[in-house]
Amino acid sequence: MHHHRWEHVDEAALAVRDHWPVGTPTIGIVLGTGLGELAREIEVQATIPYPEIPHFPHSTVQSHRGQLVCGTLSGQTVMAMEGRFHLYEGYTAAQVTFPIRVMRALGCQTLIVSNAAGGLNPLHSKGDLVVIDDHINLLGLNPLIGPNDERLGPRFPDLIEPYDRKLQDLALKVAIESNIVAHRGVYVAVTGPNLETRAEYRFLRAIGADVVGMSTVPEVLVAVHAGMKVLGFSIVTDLCLPDALEPVKIEEILKVAGEAEGKLRTIVKQVIERMGA
Ligand code: HPA
Repeated sequence: MHHHRWEHVDEAALAVRDHWPVGTPTIGIVLGTGLGELAREIEVQATIPYPEIPHFPHSTVQSHRGQLVCGTLSGQTVMAMEGRFHLYEGYTAAQVTFPIRVMRALGCQTLIVSNAAGGLNPLHSKGDLVVIDDHINLLGLNPLIGPNDERLGPRFPDLIEPYDRKLQDLALKVAIESNIVAHRGVYVAVTGPNLETRAEYRFLRAIGADVVGMSTVPEVLVAVHAGMKVLGFSIVTDLCLPDALEPVKIEEILKVAGEAEGKLRTIVKQVIERMGA
């Protein structure tokens, strides 16, 4: 799949409705690496394995769960992706972002995304939360390349405020009230799968990024194209300070993400409860 076709989105949305006749979601949620626990808090009305949804990508190799968890959370109807797709796995940008189209087609006006990321800002600590305020796309890819169907969104979407300012403010307010350290920051996306060189970290910091990761930007581009509001979170799982760099292990990244997960859950639940429809 190299670009989104309206007919495919429609077919996938119909299949979800088939499995979940009771729900009209207003919020779509994409959970990042090690951050899946939030899905356990949803009062579930349907869980739909990705292979049941036409045109949805699914992982044949990995033991990822790969399912949509649909139901209510903090009084709102939500659909959450348990298992997300990364470019480094070999999926196209269109495949990675197809689920966002389906969320929009089903009624979601808001997308909440999270990820585990490397910290470039020397004032941040491991386990801190970053409310994403803006991003830099260094993927060399874009899910919006290709013929544009105006039913999905405009040819040249603007990115003046890709991350909704009011939702950012609410998230930061909730963080303060809950005694959780959260910063506002810029996320830069790279494809991975390797972590970056010292020279690359120095470069990424110099161009204005606070956190670096291998996801999120494709999904956000499609959400903005589709007219959705976006709220994005990074968890700083490792520090990427070029002059004091330590080797990172993926186990360590997962451990830090797991430990910080509760903070993210607290904030997301509160935000959903207080954001209104
Ligand atoms: N670089 C890219 N992605 C990451 C990193 C990193 O240092 N840490 C967690 N995800």
